[in-house]
Amino acid sequence: MEFRTRAIHVGQHRDPATGAVVPPLHLASTFVQPDASMTAPYDYARTGSPTRHAFEATLADLDGGGRALAFASGMAATRCATDLLAPGDHIVTGTDIYGGTWRLFNKLLLPRGIMVTAVDMTDLDAVRAAVTPATKLIWSESPGNPLLSITDIAACATIAHDAGALLACDMTLATPALTRPLELGADIVMHSATKYIGGHSDLLGGALVVRDKQLGEKLHWLQNATGSVMGPLESFLCSRGLKTLDLRVRVQSATALDLATWLDGHPRVRRVHYPGLPDHPGHATAVRQMNGGFGAVLSFEIDGDLTAARRVVESTTLFQLAVSLGAVESLIELPALMSHGSYDTAARRAVGIEDGLIRLSVGLEAFPDLRDDLAAALST
Ligand SMILES: Cc1ncc(COP(=O)(O)O)c(C=O)c1O
Repeated sequence: MEFRTRAIHVGQHRDPATGAVVPPLHLASTFVQPDASMTAPYDYARTGSPTRHAFEATLADLDGGGRALAFASGMAATRCATDLLAPGDHIVTGTDIYGGTWRLFNKLLLPRGIMVTAVDMTDLDAVRAAVTPATKLIWSESPGNPLLSITDIAACATIAHDAGALLACDMTLATPALTRPLELGADIVMHSATKYIGGHSDLLGGALVVRDKQLGEKLHWLQNATGSVMGPLESFLCSRGLKTLDLRVRVQSATALDLATWLDGHPRVRRVHYPGLPDHPGHATAVRQMNGGFGAVLSFEIDGDLTAARRVVESTTLFQLAVSLGAVESLIELPALMSHGSYDTAARRAVGIEDGLIRLSVGLEAFPDLRDDLAAALST
């Protein structure tokens, strides 16, 4: 079946007790056991619950995986993947990654003995050179955040496997509607479900999806041992979000392309970062790897400093000034002070996240209204 059909039907069974077409929301934290052997399908909701399992089943199918695990947030999912590592192990990661992931790797894992090397993931020679015998994980984000760099996932999977390491891909910006890394050879997909999967700025969630059964078991063991699971209400809302994911992401991506093209010709805009533009360095890889759109996040640098950029982001009305992305409402933010404020300033500038960089998350509003809102803000 097609993606959109599976998003509605896989894992989402009508309630046999009532005939309700939407599976019920099970809030129970514990489940009665027929005997003391603890072999019933459910026992305690940290280990598994029916509403969470329904969402996990749909997501695993959409991502072409064998198993999905739903977490309390994207960072909880990322943390669980890094719990596969031990002191002395090494992570190779991109420079263009979410600020919270940068903080987890550099401020929490590094002092605990896990080595981290950040490289430009678009430079495959640099990725190869960064790998050491201790490398156990390559962590990529494509499109990257906030510069929208595109990683060649299949090539990175080969590099990782040649080194005996795993390739994990943060696919928050692309979603399974646009890119499915497990089909390209990656081992782990991570989503912040807070973004497009939820899609309406009303929940926090994360997910890991894998192909390999044993890896899935190991991650589930770690998830159950550490406890950062997605709650039933969030699971229910994520199942609902998946049903419209494809439609939302395609329409939002088309509007983002229109806005990127318009911004590219604007006299106050120095540079637009969007993989859908033919002059973006990752455009050719994105055309090959992304299917049906280039995502709905873009960033641009204005001709001016941090103060000027701040004036722009504080002047829009439809674009609301907020971190996060991926919802039906358009958002605008200043990475230097907001989403990437947890980077060291020098590290941030060194990787090209300039003070005057503005990031947009394009929602479901109509293009002319969003364009007019930005035009007014850029004229301040
Ligand atoms: C690309 C990316 N990865 C991971 C995360 C972390 O997700 P969460 O906020 O759900 O913990 C975010 C959040 O903004 C993100 O944008």
